[in-house]
Amino acid sequence: MKVENKATQQTPDTNDKKSSCNKSFPSLATCWGILLLIVVLRFYFSTVLEKRIANLTEETQMLKKKNEELETEKKNLTEQIQQMMTPWIELNVSRAQWSIDAYCPKENNNRKCKPCQAGWLDVESSCYAVNDAKREEWKTWEEARENCTRKISDLPVVINEEEKKTVSEKSWKYENKGYWIGLRVEDGIWKWLDGRNLTNSSWINQLPSDGHCAVSVQNEGFKSVRCDEKNRLICKKKALSV
Ligand SMILES: *[C@@H]1O[C@H](CO)[C@@H](O)[C@H](O)[C@H]1NC(C)=O
Ligand SMILES: *[C@@H]1O[C@H](CO)[C@@H](O)[C@H](O)[C@H]1NC(C)=O
Ligand SMILES: *[C@@H]1O[C@H](CO)[C@@H](O)[C@H](O)[C@H]1NC(C)=O
Ligand SMILES: *[C@@H]1O[C@H](CO)[C@@H](O)[C@H](O)[C@H]1NC(C)=O
Ligand SMILES: *[C@@H]1O[C@H](CO)[C@@H](O)[C@H](O)[C@H]1NC(C)=O
Ligand SMILES: *[C@@H]1O[C@H](CO)[C@@H](O)[C@H](O)[C@H]1NC(C)=O
Repeated sequence: MKVENKATQQTPDTNDKKSSCNKSFPSLATCWGILLLIVVLRFYFSTVLEKRIANLTEETQMLKKKNEELETEKKNLTEQIQQMMTPWIELNVSRAQWSIDAYCPKENNNRKCKPCQAGWLDVESSCYAVNDAKREEWKTWEEARENCTRKISDLPVVINEEEKKTVSEKSWKYENKGYWIGLRVEDGIWKWLDGRNLTNSSWINQLPSDGHCAVSVQNEGFKSVRCDEKNRLICKKKALSV
């Protein structure tokens, strides 16, 4: 009775993990199990996790380096942009100056702005330049277009009856010839330079044939001629609103 009592008293001690190792068989297995678990965990921590941590540290450092590189690159690019902007600003200013001189010429020390440059006709929000060059300076349709483009304009795209009349009036006939306009045959149909089809077929009597472009002839409307023929030209651009 006394012994049994002692044993029960000892039970709490037996259950204590520290001393359980040299006691009964089941707790011995548990003990080895725990030991093994500790070893495995230690191994896991020391190898896999440590490697992972090392990897992450390395990656962090790599990212930091990359970030620094990008910062440098950003600074470099910002500098380059600023260097590129400088001529831009100057170009804009010189363009602005050109526009002011072209559209707002000085007269008696006073500037007066006009919708069209000197030498251009102002009709219905458009400016037209009629090129009455000497015969030797007449141009093919392509050359005519280039001549207009250099003047920041294009061969006229005639949008309505009204404009057709305006263009026609300026197309003085000379040696039975007229002025190039922005109409030519493309893919077998009459097309304006802005990509629209010629919708009013009565505006040109000839059927579209390849390599043909249109001239405007006073009192005769539009006529189909070979694009490599030489003619005078009309340029058109938007008028400035003043
Ligand atoms: C880190 O580990 C990843 C995969 O988990 C691997 O793609 C990468 O290359 C490793 N980085 C280093 C620096 O070892
Ligand atoms: C900026 O980048 C360009 C082209 O990559 C290089 O030639 C130049 O030396 C760089 N400038 C600076 C200040 O790093
Ligand atoms: C230059 O002018 C254009 C308009 O023609 C404007 O959009 C641009 O912001 C200007 N650039 C500078 C640097 O002033
Ligand atoms: C356009 O053509 C005319 C006549 O040939 C010529 O005098 C003028 O210099 C040309 N303009 C441009 C900008 O090419
Ligand atoms: C122009 O005409 C062609 C051929 O008749 C047609 O296929 C095309 O849809 C027309 N384009 C427009 C914008 O009306
Ligand atoms: C087509 O053009 C002719 C001549 O310019 C004009 O009389 C007629 O009204 C126009 N037709 C249409 C549908 O615009």
